[in-house]
Amino acid sequence: FTRAPRARGLDNTHLLLKEGFTFLSDRHNELKSDIFETRLVGKKALCITGAEAAEKFYDSSLFIRKNAVPSVISQSLLGKGIHGMDGEDHLHRKRMFLSMMTPERVEDIKDIFLEELDRRAGEWEKMPSIHMYDELREILVRTGCRWGGVPLSDAEAPQRTEEMSLMVDSFGSLGRMKEGKKARESQEKWLEGIIRDVRSGKLTPHPQTAAYITAHYRTPSGKKLSARDAGIELNNAIRPLLATAYFLVFGLLAMHQFPGEKEKIAQDQNNYSHKFSQEVRRYYPFAPAMAAKVRKSFSWRNVEFKKGTLVVLDFYGTNHHRDSWNSPETFQPERFNNWQGSPFSFVPQGGGDHHSGHRCAGEWLTVIVMKAFFRYMSTGLDYHVPEQNLSWSLHRVPTIPEDGFRITNVQRTPGTA
Ligand code: HEM
Repeated sequence: FTRAPRARGLDNTHLLLKEGFTFLSDRHNELKSDIFETRLVGKKALCITGAEAAEKFYDSSLFIRKNAVPSVISQSLLGKGIHGMDGEDHLHRKRMFLSMMTPERVEDIKDIFLEELDRRAGEWEKMPSIHMYDELREILVRTGCRWGGVPLSDAEAPQRTEEMSLMVDSFGSLGRMKEGKKARESQEKWLEGIIRDVRSGKLTPHPQTAAYITAHYRTPSGKKLSARDAGIELNNAIRPLLATAYFLVFGLLAMHQFPGEKEKIAQDQNNYSHKFSQEVRRYYPFAPAMAAKVRKSFSWRNVEFKKGTLVVLDFYGTNHHRDSWNSPETFQPERFNNWQGSPFSFVPQGGGDHHSGHRCAGEWLTVIVMKAFFRYMSTGLDYHVPEQNLSWSLHRVPTIPEDGFRITNVQRTPGTA
């Protein structure tokens, strides 16, 4: 075996937090290697990037997730539940999530989202300036709750939006992680109450909704989850839709900054809106990386991965890796024309297989909502993008254009969306 090149510094956790999305790629580039060794959260870590690395990382015979992500992160962003599970228990829990994703239910989320979006766009017509990131967050939370069978009153919507946003926004800084943890606790209490109401018959959501499915799910040993644990999984089914707000805002930015994109989406020849959505998920940053621990020792690129070692896969770097993508720093939806669909080179929501691994259970929901939104914004609405700060930083995780993307002079063009 050879030793992987080592990044400078004793423990690089502070640099990871400071440098954000560029921490891993910069070192892979500097060391000219898809693998390097460093110390993170006091432990030796092997950092890997690229499609080949992702293929190893998503081989569940080689890795486990339990206790791999430091609890300060897992307790703010992820909550407990499916994310840290392994083996049969994980597969069983994953089937529960995937049972929410029937083609009809995926279509449902699009219809609900468009209804909520259009209702809110009616208000935008009366407003002098619209902060799209803020607006989209609440629209997505309302959509997620309706889709998931979770009642949400108008009075409650802003508070729940704020809490879910704090959870999603909290994973890149220690200060924000503390706030995220508080928000998570409030959410979990709320959703635990919803589970109890479903179980007692006080609430009767449709059997295909997340509220019903999580309340009645039974583990492989035949037991129901505690109301608290079921609430956590219900949260894992409705909260992450909010993350789509980042991609929606970046898509608006791409439609604004890259000539011809808005028109091509409006025409939508050969499913252009789909390719545009894929390129938004590839090009712009959201989920930076994922951690796992080696389950049994193996070697890759002649480096030994010893049992128990922490391994970090760079999602953002893999989506921009030169071995898989031509001119990765160019925004080019057409690159998806003849794309073969590798589950390892394109990992904005994790890689590998949805059913047997940890790949995101909500990928279909994300993409259908993105497509519907970009179509709506190119055919259903006239708007102006005023002068503002549209720059965004790769050093903040997650990141968004500085001014949240403001629009003015909104007018709906009914019948065309
Ligand atoms: C897992 C990203 C939307 C549900 C994940 C993972 C990532 C991710 C990076 C972890 C993959 C891994 O552990 O290897 C995103 C992004 C989203 C999004 C960027 C949108 C912008 C959603 C939605 C849902 C969802 C809408 C709704 C159900 C889940 C679940 C898991 C997961 C349940 C755990 C899967 C498992 O551990 O087996 N997501 N997600 N996500 N996501 Fe998403």
